[in-house]
Amino acid sequence: MIHLTVAGDADAAARTTAQRIAEGIEEALAQRGVAHIALSGGDTPADTYRVLPRCVRDWSNVHVWLGDERCVPLDDPESNWNLVERTLLSQRLDPPPHPHPVPGVDGNPEQAAAAYERELRAHFPDAPPRFDVALQGLGEDGHTASLFPEDSALEERERWVVAVHGAKPPFERVTLTLPVLRAARRIVMLAEGAGKAWAIGAVQSGPNPRVPASLLADGAEVELIADHGSAPS
Ligand code: 6PG
Repeated sequence: MIHLTVAGDADAAARTTAQRIAEGIEEALAQRGVAHIALSGGDTPADTYRVLPRCVRDWSNVHVWLGDERCVPLDDPESNWNLVERTLLSQRLDPPPHPHPVPGVDGNPEQAAAAYERELRAHFPDAPPRFDVALQGLGEDGHTASLFPEDSALEERERWVVAVHGAKPPFERVTLTLPVLRAARRIVMLAEGAGKAWAIGAVQSGPNPRVPASLLADGAEVELIADHGSAPS
């Protein structure tokens, strides 16, 4: 099920998204003493990550993961971990969270996917792993994470992480699979800008493999946060 929240503008959307992530973290810390969040890449979430520190009191038991990553060096501006470093971790959170960049992501994508899955299995005893918050982006074509339209990765039901040749450069990527993303306790999807209007409408039209983000809501609750400029009138 998709629940649409329309914020007045991009700043309001970023603040609302940061508040939702913080709520998920606080609930997890209160209930289990630990929080695992999977963050998205792309351009949209940068402002959310910049304002997130003022919403979270204590990062010491928070584990920061990625929902997907491009197979580039971590110092490459196209790296999703580089985005998280620049906008969130660089704010000198004290005590800091537990960082989980994708191991060896600038090497062989299949090996990086396997290494990331090993690290996940070391922290999550149950299958599929349940993140407390999964922050998802939305591509203009309806992709989310690095799950692209009609890609065979959408059929994966056993592996937690797969390597893909995506439709958006950098093309070589690793991504969490649908069973993992759907298992998150809180799925928040953030979309901004008129360019996302079609995708926002398509995501709400029911599960469709041509719109991978719509598959997230097939058996899970998703809050889709959009700014006024992107939400269909
Ligand atoms: C990535 C992201 C991807 C992104 C969408 C939207 O690695 O590219 O995880 O899923 O969220 O493509 O990207 P923008 O926020 O740049 O529009």
